[in-house]
Amino acid sequence: MSKITVIGQGECEFDGQFSMLEALDESGFDMPYSCRGGNCGACAVKLISGKVEEIQSPIYEPNDDEILTCSCIPMGDVVLEIP
Ligand code: FES
Repeated sequence: MSKITVIGQGECEFDGQFSMLEALDESGFDMPYSCRGGNCGACAVKLISGKVEEIQSPIYEPNDDEILTCSCIPMGDVVLEIP
């Protein structure tokens, strides 16, 4: 199981949910999102540490230091920051 830490909000476990957004949502985190499909960019957060894998091919291209929580799963422990 991977640990997802959101700076300023706390941490939760990733336990095979569809996406990081789903895991964070289930744990009651107040994460920004809209489409959940990689189209809008609303869920973009800074990846401070750790690695992620894309589980769908997003249309929206986040900045180099950002990831889309709706379109990724963690590969080990990750630390995120909401911009
Ligand atoms: S919620 Fe729209 S790109 Fe993730």
